Amino acid sequence: MMRKEISKLLLGVVRKAYGGVKLPPFIVEVPENPEHGDYSTNAALVLSQVLKKSPHEIGTVLAGALRGAKDFSSVAVAGPGFINFTVADDVLAKKISDVLKKGKTWGNTRAGKGKKVIVEYFQLNIAKRPHIGHLRSAVIGDSLKRMFLLAGYHTISDTHVGDWGTQFGILLLAFKGSGMKTSDATLRADPFGVLEGLYIKENERITADPNRRELAKLEFAKLERGGKENRKIWKWMVDVSMENLEASSRRLGLLKFNEHMGESAYEKAMPGIVKMALEKHVAKQLSDGAIIADLSGEGLDEAVLVKSDGATTYLLRDLATILYRKNRHAFQKNIYLVDVRQSHHFRQVFSVAKKLGFDGVGESVHVEFGFMSLPEGNMSTRKGNAISLVAVLGEAHEKALAVIREKNPNVKHADDIAWSVGLGAIKYFDLSHNRRSDIVFRWEDALSFEGNTGPYLQYTHARLKSILRKAKMKKPKILKSISPDALEHRISVMLLRLPEAIGASLETYSPNILANYLSALAHLANEFYHSHPVMQEADAAKRAFRFALVDAVAATLERGLWCLGIDAPDEM
Ligand code: ARG
Repeated sequence: MMRKEISKLLLGVVRKAYGGVKLPPFIVEVPENPEHGDYSTNAALVLSQVLKKSPHEIGTVLAGALRGAKDFSSVAVAGPGFINFTVADDVLAKKISDVLKKGKTWGNTRAGKGKKVIVEYFQLNIAKRPHIGHLRSAVIGDSLKRMFLLAGYHTISDTHVGDWGTQFGILLLAFKGSGMKTSDATLRADPFGVLEGLYIKENERITADPNRRELAKLEFAKLERGGKENRKIWKWMVDVSMENLEASSRRLGLLKFNEHMGESAYEKAMPGIVKMALEKHVAKQLSDGAIIADLSGEGLDEAVLVKSDGATTYLLRDLATILYRKNRHAFQKNIYLVDVRQSHHFRQVFSVAKKLGFDGVGESVHVEFGFMSLPEGNMSTRKGNAISLVAVLGEAHEKALAVIREKNPNVKHADDIAWSVGLGAIKYFDLSHNRRSDIVFRWEDALSFEGNTGPYLQYTHARLKSILRKAKMKKPKILKSISPDALEHRISVMLLRLPEAIGASLETYSPNILANYLSALAHLANEFYHSHPVMQEADAAKRAFRFALVDAVAATLERGLWCLGIDAPDEM
């Protein structure tokens, strides 16, 4: 919250003290050690290289000039020339009052005003069950969407459903061969189980008898040409899959998607793109008929737009997607939540798109992530033994319910709370890690009520809410003069940093920055309520301030958890 203000102040005093000198890039950070103030900057150190003066001397000049600034109770030079800032108590009082007044809009900024961002995640594939490999995309993508919304971006989410490609030839071949009808009761009862089984079996047959691959290709060609029977079966698969997507998305508590543009939606745009790529000499046709863009000069090999048998590719559909998004939305940012295995693919896509002029308005970013696995093995596999998402969420609920029953046997709505806590545990586990890391999910770690976990944050929030409930005090509207002790001061400064934490998370698409900020705030809050009575405090002014502080920290945790897609129950 204060970072920008401090940077501005610094630029001002540097101009005043040193005339036209340009201040090189400097940082304003939150010192590890609270004794070094609330914020600290290396501005004097970077300036010393330009001015050829000692950083301490420059620091002293700048700190002297800043001493009058009304927002700080102290501006001091420390060490070799760092300038440390301590925020004045009346500023804290005013800002905390603002937080309480803002309520549900606390944390909103205008950083993204007038900018459009497209966030693509939870890209399920038709005729397959969502498995736990889809979880990270959904959870990280949903969190980024939430933060973009808070930061004032016009945000459009899309699932880019995988509903097209040669694998549908395989599925159609298998389905028609099975003699089943889409109206069959067994199929209706468990469509994905049956379809996955058929797909796996057909793949085995193709491996044994490569001629069958030609038959599968034929089936896809019929689908592409609009063959009635194939279209009908395919449409049925799309419909059951989309119903399932909606249900899973609700189960996961994801925000509503703005678009579900399947890969098939780009079918018509593909020939035009191929034509353009050939005309612009971005791509060429090889003697076997394939159409490729040679990116070997950039170390990206050949990008295949059309295969030698004339089939369009996944890459070509992605090019069509960028063109659509550019024309339709004129995005500033177009981001893809897809695991690291596809980073080469996206580099190729972005490179060809750029050559074709599709990126004119904004930038496309592959926000890649590593794998989440269970201790007993991988969570994502194409071999058919994938762990279903529904199963994992069910287990989360069951395990959370047991913990809650044990901790608080009298709590009402234990079942609802268990869904929130189970889901919160999984989401927080995912989001608190660097997204690029491969992570091993362990229930014991994720569900613990202590340490850096979702349930710990939820529990801290519920504790604060219970203090507020028991206090039965009226919300103080405006805090006047306050005199916080060291811990109260630290918490106050910390809670005000929510918008900063959101901004920093968005800069690098890293929700773990926000997660770790919330965890640090919750730790301070725990320290606080164990050592600082609220209602038992005799001094009325202190009591009112502590009450407001508890209220503001609870609001901050609630808003922060919302950004992570995690519920904050009032009781647990
Ligand atoms: N459905 C694809 C898969 O399962 C992921 C889609 C990623 N998004 C994209 N625009 N290519 O691999």
